[in-house]
This record gives sequence, structure tokens and C-alpha cells, in this order.
Amino acid sequence: MSDLSRPPAPRIIAIANQKGGVGKTTTAINLAAALAEAGHRVLIVDLDPQGNASTGYGVDDRALTTYDLIIDDAPLEKVIRETQTDNVWICPATTDLSSADIEMMANEKRSFLLRDALRQVEIDRFAFEFVLIDCPPSLSLLTINAMVAADAVLVPLQAEFFALEGLSQLMLTIREVRASANPDLRIDGVLLTMHDARNNLSLQVEQDARDTLGELVFQTVVPRNVRVSEAPSFAVPVLAYDPQSKGSQAYRALAKELLGRTAVPA
Ligand SMILES: Nc1ncnc2c1ncn2[C@@H]1O[C@H](COP(=O)(O)OP(=O)(O)OP(=O)(O)O)[C@@H](O)[C@H]1O
Ligand SMILES: [Mg+2]
Repeated sequence: MSDLSRPPAPRIIAIANQKGGVGKTTTAINLAAALAEAGHRVLIVDLDPQGNASTGYGVDDRALTTYDLIIDDAPLEKVIRETQTDNVWICPATTDLSSADIEMMANEKRSFLLRDALRQVEIDRFAFEFVLIDCPPSLSLLTINAMVAADAVLVPLQAEFFALEGLSQLMLTIREVRASANPDLRIDGVLLTMHDARNNLSLQVEQDARDTLGELVFQTVVPRNVRVSEAPSFAVPVLAYDPQSKGSQAYRALAKELLGRTAVPA
């Protein structure tokens, strides 16, 4: 039920792929920065016990974390931290979160914990327009929680051999979540990452992805760019570290493409 006294709900995007190292966290960090640069208020929920999105934003103050939010019902406004980037907030994670899967099992609302946490009225004060959830590299209960909470799943796909393997399992999980808990969940969309236009294999993977998945694949492709991989060690997004780099330009283009899609009624 919509409540007219509340601001519009943020658009919630789960960044998921059970394959490790495909660019989920890099996309969470830099898509957030690009949306923020365009004037949008963005919350990143770090849902990975590795905590890479938190470190990537230099958020070390982790008194309360995503674990407290979903397991101990901590108030959202106490967990969320400001970052050095205007318009970007983060709900940080630590290794604590690795025990969450087991602890959630006994809870009959186990798949809905993140969704309910993000629906706290306290979120209204922040007037977020986007919530980006950085998922761990698995199809665990944490990732299920992200898919149940989300309007859409964004799937980073590394432009290398075997990229499309595992995608059917991811799609199956999305279908299961639709059938059981979140009928409106969409895929929006598939993002090719670490693409190298001089490498035939990258081009072949891109072609295969476009042939198989059609319009689900973003026009924007993120190139392999060393500035992107250097930025986290300075605890800033690449958009701050090297604003004119190819990586920064790609994430700005992705934000623009996503905003364009968002404008289309679902
Ligand atoms: N466009 C890019 N150009 C160069 N390096 C990149 C790019 N995107 C990501 N990387 C590097 O690739 C590695 C994996 O990226 P990232 O951590 O974003 O993947 P992930 O899917 O979040 O990994 P995990 O599954 O472990 O959470 C990192 O070292 C990151 O810096
Ligand atoms: Mg990651």
C-alpha cells in the first residue's frame, strides 16, 4: 500500500552474480558515485562479509553494521554512515556478516529481513533515490535477501571465457524469488565489465551476451582500466581518483543509461 505522507520509495538495485571477482563491488562503488554526481542521493548496502564496498569508501567506523541492521533490528539511521563523496551513504559490513546466513535460518521471516529493514520509516529522512546492494559471491540467503528487497537485479558479467556459465543458475534463483516473494523483481540489466576491445575473447563474450540476452545487456560496457583498480587503495571511487579516466566515463554513461531506463514506466 502506498502511503502518501511518505516520500517516494528509493529504487533498490541488487548487484549480484555468484561468480567471484566479476566487478560487483566496483560497480556498487562507482555507479553510486556517478548517480551522486548527477545529483541523486544514494545508499550503498554492503551485504558482503568481505566489506570491500565499505573499505572502498574509506568507511572504517563500523560500530554498527549491516549485521546489526538485519539480525538485531538496529535502527537504519544508526547504522548508515556518510562517506567522503557527497550524496553517498553506506551501510557498512564486516566479517560479522559471515555468520548471518546461519543465524537467519531459524527465523521464519529469513528472506525478508533486509526488505523490512529498508522499509523502516527512518529511511524517509534521508530521501534516498537509489539503494545499491553489493551482494557476496554466492546465491546464499544474504543474496536472496537482496533480491527480495530489490526492484531489480543488476548483473555484472566479466568479459572473459566462462562468463555466461553460471548465469542460468542466477536466472533460476531470480525466477524462484519472483515466484515466492517478489513477483515484480526485474533484471536491469546485465553489465559487461573489464572489457578489452583489443581482445577477441572480450568481443566474443560481448557478442554472445548480446545474442543470448538481447536488450537485457546495457549498451554501456566498462573497459578494463587500471585507474578503476587503483582507486580503492585510496578509499575513493574512480570518479574522484581520476575523473576523466575511461573507467569514470563508463560509470557515468551507465548511470545515464540506468536513469533513462528508470524513466520508462515499469
Ligand atoms: N573495469 C575494471 N578495470 C580494471 N580492474 C577492475 C575493473 N573492475 C573491477 N576490477 C578489479 O577486479 C577485481 C574484482 O572486482 P570486484 O571486487 O569489484 O569484484 P566482485 O564481483 O565484487 O568480487 P567478489 O565476488 O569477491 O565480491 C578487483 O581487484 C577490482 O579492482
Ligand atoms: Mg565484491
